[in-house]
Amino acid sequence: MTDPRLDLLLQDCPGLRLTTEPAELEHYGRDWTRRWTPAPLAIALPGNVDEVQAILRWASAQGVAVVPSGGRTGLSGGAVAANGELVLSLERMNKPLAFDAVDRTLTVQAGMALEAVHNAALEHGLIYPVDFAARGSCSIGGNIATNAGGIRVIRYGNTREWIAGLKVVTASGELLELNKGLIKNSSGYDFRQLLIASEGTLGVIVEATLKLTDPPPASNVMLLALPSFEVLMQVFAAFRERMQLQAFEFFTDRALEHVLAHGAQAPFAEVHPFYVVTEFAAGDEVQEAAAMAAFEACMEQGWVSDGVVSQSDAQAAQLWRLREGITEAVARYKPYKNDVSVRISAMPAFMARTQALIGQAYPHFDVVWFGHIGDGNLHINVLKPDATDDAQFLQQCEHVTKLLAQVLKDFDGSISAEHGIGLVKKGYLDSTRGEAEIALMQAVKRAFDPQGLLNPGKVFDL
Ligand code: FAD
Ligand code: MLT
Ligand code: ZN
Repeated sequence: MTDPRLDLLLQDCPGLRLTTEPAELEHYGRDWTRRWTPAPLAIALPGNVDEVQAILRWASAQGVAVVPSGGRTGLSGGAVAANGELVLSLERMNKPLAFDAVDRTLTVQAGMALEAVHNAALEHGLIYPVDFAARGSCSIGGNIATNAGGIRVIRYGNTREWIAGLKVVTASGELLELNKGLIKNSSGYDFRQLLIASEGTLGVIVEATLKLTDPPPASNVMLLALPSFEVLMQVFAAFRERMQLQAFEFFTDRALEHVLAHGAQAPFAEVHPFYVVTEFAAGDEVQEAAAMAAFEACMEQGWVSDGVVSQSDAQAAQLWRLREGITEAVARYKPYKNDVSVRISAMPAFMARTQALIGQAYPHFDVVWFGHIGDGNLHINVLKPDATDDAQFLQQCEHVTKLLAQVLKDFDGSISAEHGIGLVKKGYLDSTRGEAEIALMQAVKRAFDPQGLLNPGKVFDL
């Protein structure tokens, strides 16, 4: 190790896995955003809580900034280390620790992949219901640090709903045990909830006690083709009033084109402007009949032009791929991502205004719209035209986001529905949070991390 501070770290924490290999610095210094050049000091891969505590004690004594790091699938630059920080990867702390059948909780290390959590819950006949396409590579710690949403929020809520307890190491190396799995606890401030969505700025989550629930009955997946987005909410209402929906996801013809070009199978003979993937319980004839009644009502009204229902698990997966494959399919165009939310009822008006705004300012932009429309969350991805250079494209996209932030203010919406603020949306935090609220957030940050060493420069500057 060439930096003497790293020798001190190894003295304090003998046996710690620590690397400064250039390929590792590159690998662990970036997330999915790929916008910043990685430049971490080193990568620490602790194997237990004691090592995490030793790292943070050392960091606070040496004044070294630390970036907590999970699967680095984040889309807001939260796990980027571009300024000589130590990356603290939870990757090796990836095991289930305890299951409690009475409490229906599963305690896990924070580096466990979301999919591994799903599988561990299923081994006990239960589910951990938060789910989305990055399940194989994102970590539960990263999910908690971003309050991840995903495809089943309308049925089960965000990550926040499923956290019964957290173990967190603070900037000074103290271990906090937050809520300890209790259901009722009115003993003062709930720091567990404060840590959720804190994006690595308040503490390092090392363990989580997750609530589990019963698996849903057999479900069907239905793909609907829609003639316009104005009818989206009518279709949503028609289905929701008849059945328990588990998902109601939306994408456009442009999104579908990219997924098909990426190897997916076309669902209909004709192209339609908008699509919805919905999933609902289909365990018995009553539920099946309700789904058909909703579909027929929508067809009669002209809100739906075509539809297909999965007849097997394989077909359900195929239909889901059309929605879940969008992120991968557009990745090669270096999309500028907006991840916004408004109240569900405001969605059509918000979409119309946003579409007009982007269309007027940048008519040549290739905009891919998709998202979790049933919970008011829209993803607006602007794809970089080959002819435009990176800097100019970024400048134009930042301009669009500035306009979008103003619209969101008018709609009382959020500039980050589920991806977090990180670096990407830091300049727009004030479109969603008031001045006094941001000042309080900064005061909380100072209370937890007086030296400003935990993920500095993310969410806001101090
Ligand atoms: P990272 O990217 O490693 O980190 C994210 C943030 O959390 C950073 O600020 C980091 O410092 C902090 N952090 C990580 N681990 C810890 C820890 N142990 N303690 C404290 N802070 C920590 N997100 C959604 O919400 N819904 C979706 O539907 C969705 N779909 C996606 C699909 C694809 C294909 C991809 C690539 C991403 C998607 N995401 C989605 C975004 C991303 O997967 C989530 O934000 C996820 O929760 C990040 O987890 P991670 O382990 O990769 O975190
Ligand atoms: C999604 O809903 O697919 C994710 O949030 C990923 C993305 O926005 O690209
Ligand atoms: Zn999403």
